[in-house]
Amino acid sequence: MTVLTVENLVAGYTPGDQILKGLNFRVEPREIVCIVGPNGAGKSTLLKTIAGLLHPSEGRIVFADTPIGGLRPHDISRHGIAFVPQEHNVFGNMTVYENLEMGGYINPRQFRERAEEVMTHFPILRRKRGQLAKTLSGGQRQLLAVGMALMVDPGLVLLDEPTAGLSPTAADELFQEIIRLRDVGKAIALVEQNARDAMAISDRTYILVDGRNNVDGPSVELLANKDINRMFLGG
Ligand SMILES: Nc1ncnc2c1ncn2[C@@H]1O[C@H](COP(=O)(O)OP(=O)(O)OP(=O)(O)O)[C@@H](O)[C@H]1O
Ligand SMILES: [Mg+2]
Repeated sequence: MTVLTVENLVAGYTPGDQILKGLNFRVEPREIVCIVGPNGAGKSTLLKTIAGLLHPSEGRIVFADTPIGGLRPHDISRHGIAFVPQEHNVFGNMTVYENLEMGGYINPRQFRERAEEVMTHFPILRRKRGQLAKTLSGGQRQLLAVGMALMVDPGLVLLDEPTAGLSPTAADELFQEIIRLRDVGKAIALVEQNARDAMAISDRTYILVDGRNNVDGPSVELLANKDINRMFLGG
């Protein structure tokens, strides 16, 4: 069953505001789907609308079999969609463990068990569990943000520019972690500036321009396409 189906999505920040102008998007089980495109194309707006922070004015968003368009973020999270925003995605003055607790607020009874699983998946979080999040390195902080998202045991993880500001090495390590998430059964939608590297670890790519679909297809095919390289990937 398709994990996520987005059909003819129209959404924006104020009533009548059409930033997304009829967008189509889908994620299949165990896929990493990459979303790229110029600044202001609507990539973050798409993730925010799926996560319920913005309400669609037209179109459908279906997660597994459930229409979720227009539900509150809290309810969307309960259905199994986790969103990792680009900025302010951890609480700097809380410890790593307290941050995980915040991530698991939806289901406090399962908190300990889930936190153990997340710390087993990311051992660095166990080692740093008592440390304030603001004392982590950029890469460690992004892992914590992903760890918080995993606390709801999501079927789909939405990541908005997770490698922004990271060194090439840290970015590559994070990409490897994203592959590991896919390998444990998560579906992933990944927005990236770092287009070529993100496409290289993804199954399919959507290129958005001005709130619309421009090109999509298997990432290997898009990466091998000269015109797409010239127009979107800097040669
Ligand atoms: N909070 C907001 N209020 C009003 N308009 C916004 C807001 N955030 C973004 N926009 C507008 O929505 C459009 C799409 O922005 P969005 O952030 O989705 O682009 P993006 O593709 O994520 O770009 P970037 O690559 O720069 O992150 C832009 O024209 C932007 O000005
Ligand atoms: Mg953005």
